Amino acid sequence: MTKKQLKEVYQLKERFKTESEVFDKRVLLILLGFIKKGILQTVDYPISTGKEANVFMATRPGGGHVAVKIYKMETAPFFRKEEYLDGDPRFADIRHSDREIVKAFARKEFKNLQVCERAGVHAPKPYYITDNVLVMGFLGEGDLPYPTMNMVGPLHGEKDLDSILDDLRKMYRAGLVHADLSEYNVMMGDVPYLIDFGQGVVLRHPHAERFLERDVAIILKYFAKYGVRRDLDKTLKWIRG
Ligand SMILES: Nc1ncnc2c1ncn2[C@@H]1O[C@H](COP(=O)(O)OP(=O)(O)OP(=O)(O)O)[C@@H](O)[C@H]1O
Ligand SMILES: [Mg+2]
Repeated sequence: MTKKQLKEVYQLKERFKTESEVFDKRVLLILLGFIKKGILQTVDYPISTGKEANVFMATRPGGGHVAVKIYKMETAPFFRKEEYLDGDPRFADIRHSDREIVKAFARKEFKNLQVCERAGVHAPKPYYITDNVLVMGFLGEGDLPYPTMNMVGPLHGEKDLDSILDDLRKMYRAGLVHADLSEYNVMMGDVPYLIDFGQGVVLRHPHAERFLERDVAIILKYFAKYGVRRDLDKTLKWIRG
């Protein structure tokens, strides 16, 4: 970081309402870039601080919120997930350094969200990606993020399951499998929204079908706890059309 950039960061420090210590210098510079370009006005508070990523709520110039997902570089060695990259031809040429792997996951999530948007899947709208920092639509009401399904359970039983399966079918038709689906990666608004697409793979991936089976099995098992039962094989057949 140059002196000039550092000065700008300090001048803009009040724009980072959250503790700026949680951002490393590179992330700070990327956020600064977003602010200068008029993409973000302020970075407000952490919605989630996890093992692999932190998610923040941010405000756009003129109001309105977005979610900023920052993949953690320091946990890169624990990203034991090359299998999700290796089989995906879109990422055939990434260098397998720790930083590059993390950046590839962020870019993968962004691309997968673009596929979802085109396919009409209920998922956050992808806005911007720079290195490990992804800006996407905020899923929530006012400035309150929707709860994840594990927190509140299905809100409309059968209808919620139908919506999720319908989204999985749309994704499959668009050539995409989520590969990390569970009640933790569904946010409950008026309808369920799917999130966390970093591990999503294209159908050409050698394990795509196995990942799909796992996704669907996990969701069906979860809904069964609430008395909403579906046959796994029939459901998979339906998704595969
Ligand atoms: N677009 C969004 N709008 C509002 N909240 C979001 C959005 N995306 C994610 N979140 C919140 O952030 C949490 C973490 O997001 P996500 O599942 O994408 O990250 P993760 O990869 O699971 O992170 P980790 O594994 O480190 O916990 C979600 O459970 C949800 O509460
Ligand atoms: Mg998650």
